[in-house]
Amino acid sequence: MTQTNIILLGPPGAGKGTQAKRLVDERQMVQLSTGDMLREARTSGTEMGRRVAAVMDAGHLVTDDIVIGLIEERLTTGKAGGGYIFDGFPRTLKQADALGDLLQRLGQKLDAVIEIRVDDEVLKDRIVGRYTCGNCGAVYHDKYRPTKVPGVCDTCGSTNMKRRADDTEEALRTRMLAYYRDTSPLIGYYYALRQLTTIDGLAPMDTVAEAVAKVLDKR
Ligand code: AP5
Repeated sequence: MTQTNIILLGPPGAGKGTQAKRLVDERQMVQLSTGDMLREARTSGTEMGRRVAAVMDAGHLVTDDIVIGLIEERLTTGKAGGGYIFDGFPRTLKQADALGDLLQRLGQKLDAVIEIRVDDEVLKDRIVGRYTCGNCGAVYHDKYRPTKVPGVCDTCGSTNMKRRADDTEEALRTRMLAYYRDTSPLIGYYYALRQLTTIDGLAPMDTVAEAVAKVLDKR
């Protein structure tokens, strides 16, 4: 199986998770979402989970060492399938350098960085309307992607729907600040490395998916 490793880059609510899940289904790629990993750590009640909970709820970034450690563990022990989708990682230049080193050590490379660009005005609407299936992780939205039967997951039939503690207007303001301060410099960094493609994240989900597919098929 051909392996393609990509980063999905974009602010909170850009649609990274939504697109990553489609690539998992359609191309057997492996989604590595540091946000999901940290949320798992919280619910499993580990010491690290307890430490990061308040940081995440307020919308701040968790320390580089913790997230780099999580990614390293997955890359060295997990199966790559059709390749990795880095979703929400890297988020700082230190994390970007660590990822480059890790991939090199494992004899792999980064094939593309896809920036999903959206206007800030749509993000609040997307974030406060989001809910996910607590069983399979499918992502929904009150307006843009409601479940077919209210409260029942289209994918697995579970009725365990959840809303994230950091999906509030207040936490979103802090998350946006962290994005512009720490993560947006990565756009210039990957552009300079000639790895960046920017796509329109304001388009409907299917159109965004087509744009992502185009980037992957060019590889
Ligand atoms: P994380 O879980 O990574 O959250 P995020 O980056 O803020 O991104 P989101 O998951 O909110 O948005 P998304 O782009 O995936 O959008 P989605 O597809 O769901 O991180 C959470 C926290 O963990 C951080 O704040 C930090 O504390 C910590 N953390 C994680 N990684 C870290 C790291 N590397 N370093 C340090 N700390 C880290 O879509 C949103 C909604 O919009 C959905 O309801 C969806 O249905 C809808 N939607 C999607 N696409 C469209 C479309 N095209 N049109 C209309 N609606 C759409």
